[in-house]
Amino acid sequence: MSSQEEDGTAEPGHNTAGPSTCSSTENDETTGDIITVTIGATVPTGFEHTAAEEVNEKIGVDARISKDRGRIYFPITTDKLFQVHLLRSVDNLFVVVEEYDHYQFKESKEETLMEMQQLASKLPWTNALEVWKLNGALKKKKGYRKGGNGTKVKPNSEAADAAVADTEQQELPLAASAAETPTKAESTADTETSTQDTEETAPEAKPIKFRVTCNRAGDKHSFSSNEAARDFGGAVQEFFLWKADMTKFDIEVLLNIHNEEVVIGIALTEESLHRRNISHFGPTTLRSTLCYGMLRLCKPQASDIILDPMCGTGAIPLEGAIEFNSSFYVAGDNNDMAVNRTVNNICHIQKRRAVKGSASGLPIDTVRWDLCNLPIRTGSVDIIITDMPFGKRMGSRKKNWDLYPSCLREMARVCTPGSGKAVLLTQDKKCLAKAISRMGGLWRKLHTVWVNVGGLHAGVYLLKRTGAVFGQTPEDVYESRGTVNAKGDEKGDKELS
Ligand SMILES: C[S@@+](CC[C@H](N)C(=O)[O-])C[C@H]1O[C@@H](n2cnc3c(N)ncnc32)[C@H](O)[C@@H]1O
Repeated sequence: MSSQEEDGTAEPGHNTAGPSTCSSTENDETTGDIITVTIGATVPTGFEHTAAEEVNEKIGVDARISKDRGRIYFPITTDKLFQVHLLRSVDNLFVVVEEYDHYQFKESKEETLMEMQQLASKLPWTNALEVWKLNGALKKKKGYRKGGNGTKVKPNSEAADAAVADTEQQELPLAASAAETPTKAESTADTETSTQDTEETAPEAKPIKFRVTCNRAGDKHSFSSNEAARDFGGAVQEFFLWKADMTKFDIEVLLNIHNEEVVIGIALTEESLHRRNISHFGPTTLRSTLCYGMLRLCKPQASDIILDPMCGTGAIPLEGAIEFNSSFYVAGDNNDMAVNRTVNNICHIQKRRAVKGSASGLPIDTVRWDLCNLPIRTGSVDIIITDMPFGKRMGSRKKNWDLYPSCLREMARVCTPGSGKAVLLTQDKKCLAKAISRMGGLWRKLHTVWVNVGGLHAGVYLLKRTGAVFGQTPEDVYESRGTVNAKGDEKGDKELS
């Protein structure tokens, strides 16, 4: 049952509660070949404002932050479409077909699903499909995305990253049919001629393959995401005469339902952009998009020395060295496997750059060390940015009680008094809060961003180094240096692969 349903006769979404605030139908203006559409982007939850800032800086438009956390929307003209693929804060991109802020779902499941079927043929698909085509051409030309027709293989280490506790997701395969043209009326293509890809040479002759992915969140829906994807997908198939294919699809139609917000879109990315930098994954590799958000929090400046003392696979310093490349990064870890992965990830990117003809190296170095005993001069580091062991997949909660205070103390030693910053990610909030309060003379907490990391509620803490000279506060002598994890943590850290 819909939370707002009052009038059973209303057209879906075009209801008394108000029309969509930003649909492609209403906003699109055609100026010659250039059209304006709304782009939707999924971003790491908690960093929606960071993503909106980046969109404003790089594309020059205002982004709207969705009520559905982890999403932003912004208008774009098709001549700027390539720019959306250069954004560092976005995971997945899609073009909006239509959106409803207050969709009035019918009372019963049957009525609602029937309405979804009818919706498919009423949607303003034309502009979104144009953008999808243009996007495909851009990808071919520039090689923005790797891989072929959307076959997605998730490395084990990251499978949990996609999980959000109250979100259902369903991708639905449907029966086959074929057509390249956008409407049933226009299409006469042979429904039996299914092939594996769409070639530029004779696109009309190939069937378009599609799938529908439904993301649903909210407890007031009478239907499941599976049912919505099945019924809406069936109607899309009938309308366009496309061929359904769960894995080798050309078009992914998105049906995002968050409480009473409904957004229909077409995906512009085949796999999340957060994988862009990493070729050698570890057990807790951080999304590059989240790394970007953390880096922006500490505003790297030219010639800053930036340390990730627990770098794992090097996701944070790599993103920094690529995007904020006028700073210098040192990536360290006490685990040999982690250091090797970082080195491999750096080499991989260097090779990729060399192939593209870029001569410049990355401003990054790698070292094996124990964070509690850094081989670094006191007061010489501008920024420390790191993803600490949560004590779940990496380390243990018990160890954190010793590790966190030792970390903060050693970080305070190497950071420049008065201006040094630390950006620390952890889910062990209690332990970090306690450690920060114990180190009050050396660190001051400025800001916390709450994020979702693989379904875990974590905090990104921005700390500022106080002006206190190291060695002259009670905190400095609280614990002697080098007592925690000095031997490395290969066994204790439960490395999984
Ligand atoms: C949560 S993981 C970091 C993951 C990393 N951000 C990535 O994207 O791969 C924490 C890392 O801290 C390292 N670590 C734990 N204790 C350490 C210590 N005392 N000194 C240095 N590294 C340590 C672990 O080996 C592990 O690689």
